[in-house]
Amino acid sequence: MCGIIGYVGNMPAKKILVDGLTSLEYRGYDSAGISFFDENKNIHTIKNIGKVCNLKKLVDSDEHSSNCGLGHTRWATHGNVTNENAHPHSAGKITLVHNGIIENYISLQKEYSITEGERKSQTDTEIAAILLNKFYEESGYDSLKAISMLTSLLVGTYSFCVLFADRPSEIYAIRKVSPLVCSKTPIGSFIASDLTALISYSKTYFVAPEDAIIKLTKDDIKFFDLKNSNELKVEEKNLNWDADATMKGGYKHYMLKEINEQPDALVNTIMPFINNDVPDFNRIGLSDEFLNSIENIQIVACGTARHAGLVASYTFSSILKMSINTYVASEYRYSEPLVNNKTLFVAISQSGETVDTLASLSLAKKEGANIVSVVNVKDSSIARESNFNLYTNAGPEIAVASTKAYTVQIAMLYMLFSRVAFAKGKMTLDELKIFTKNLIEMKEVIKETLKVEEQVKDIAKFLQHKNDCYYIGRLQDYVSSLEGALKLKEISYIHTDAYAAGELKHGTIALIYDGVPVIAISTNKKVHEKLMSNVEEVKARDADIILIVNEDFNYNKNISKHVIRIKNVDYRFAVFPVSVVIQLIAYWTSVERGLDVDKPRNLAKSVTVE
Ligand code: M6R
Repeated sequence: MCGIIGYVGNMPAKKILVDGLTSLEYRGYDSAGISFFDENKNIHTIKNIGKVCNLKKLVDSDEHSSNCGLGHTRWATHGNVTNENAHPHSAGKITLVHNGIIENYISLQKEYSITEGERKSQTDTEIAAILLNKFYEESGYDSLKAISMLTSLLVGTYSFCVLFADRPSEIYAIRKVSPLVCSKTPIGSFIASDLTALISYSKTYFVAPEDAIIKLTKDDIKFFDLKNSNELKVEEKNLNWDADATMKGGYKHYMLKEINEQPDALVNTIMPFINNDVPDFNRIGLSDEFLNSIENIQIVACGTARHAGLVASYTFSSILKMSINTYVASEYRYSEPLVNNKTLFVAISQSGETVDTLASLSLAKKEGANIVSVVNVKDSSIARESNFNLYTNAGPEIAVASTKAYTVQIAMLYMLFSRVAFAKGKMTLDELKIFTKNLIEMKEVIKETLKVEEQVKDIAKFLQHKNDCYYIGRLQDYVSSLEGALKLKEISYIHTDAYAAGELKHGTIALIYDGVPVIAISTNKKVHEKLMSNVEEVKARDADIILIVNEDFNYNKNISKHVIRIKNVDYRFAVFPVSVVIQLIAYWTSVERGLDVDKPRNLAKSVTVE
């Protein structure tokens, strides 16, 4: 959460900072600001509530020139969305931006007798700025020492970028958990909270290590040990995303572009791990012998990524006949999970930075679990902490609502668990080949399903005026319901819930009223008739039904005028076409309501605070 950018070099910094914030805006968009050294080495700050385009207008009308500065786009944690609470924050010689939470800021304020009068904002960040200024003075203006003194006091997660007023061509940074990456280029040095801001300037980058102070100057990036200020060597990495991948490519919104990228994303994710027509993970060290030794599987994730895990749990419990459970990361990390060295712990995360997933992973690792990550962003924190990385090659996902990341996560889990099934003798080689072939065929099935868009637009026109909506389904279709509801509420703000259809009569059916939309999903023959009975029950209470159903299944043709028929595929794979439909329903409903599809209110793409 919160986007950070810093630049020092020989190009106009203000433009680079605003461009950087524009590409990082999906991390938070409550307010935005920049601070920079002007031609006379004085620091100026421009900040404003609202989106980066508001800030841009102010920056454009500012006449100073600059080659060094910081920028921030905020997802508010402490303090309302106001100009005062927007970053950067300044105190004495210090100007800084922050991503994360300083959990002990109130006790620090008390301990160091910082009065309310000294504060201009309600943020935890400002306390850090005031303390850093104090330590800078106390250390005899030693920047490294002052940062080290500050961080020794902080509890929580953070990344900071700092300008010292008397060091006009230097940027300092430090991080704990919250990510920072930096790049050295011929036009100067860059630092940002993620690679999307660096992609247009560089093909290489450094991941800022935790507990290292980073110092950026025009020609160099140096890393210093937080404790003793010794210089550290950090490996430079290659970036294999290209700048085009972060553009809208002719689509009106990133979300629509990303929905349409799913056929390619799926193939790019699974093909690197297919050998002789079956999944093969030997090259990353996941041998059959090891997979066979696993006694239980725990999947941990948040939001949409958790739904990907649930789909895989449903599909593979019956195949593997062993415990395979999916957990909410924010619950798992504070529970006392039964986990040991026979556990395969699978962390799923698009960003690879979700703090609850990362903390759960660390907990399981301490208990000896074998950690596999299914992550989209290379070298992200979750990837680095894992024993085995299964990268989903979906390319950057910019829209806050996750779409292509979801389907490729499911595809990767299907690959992994089908190989576990083979290693354990629960699938024959022929069965594994058929399963893999089915998965590869999903590319064409998804392509075909994308053609339902026109039909979905009608559904969206119908949904746009509704206050409530329910998704129902059974088994994997129940998980698709959970995902459909999350997607719809997230970007259309229509109150939407999902229920296992069989649960309706245990309370939920009381919520059904005349004209409330109920979206029912049915792709599994075994439970189709049961599901249709539940649909009749809500129809009998005057709900308006929208049906997403396998094209070969029978149903009462009078039940609804909104019926989307999806291709007849094995029910375990129906989640792929169904996902496309539910994503398009959410997308077009949000468009019909005139909302900001890619940046829904109160949300941010990367959740790096608890
Ligand atoms: O980066 P992650 O996959 O770890 O993110 C997890 C969730 O925050 C994310 O899936 C969220 O639920 C999406 N905005 C849903 O569309």
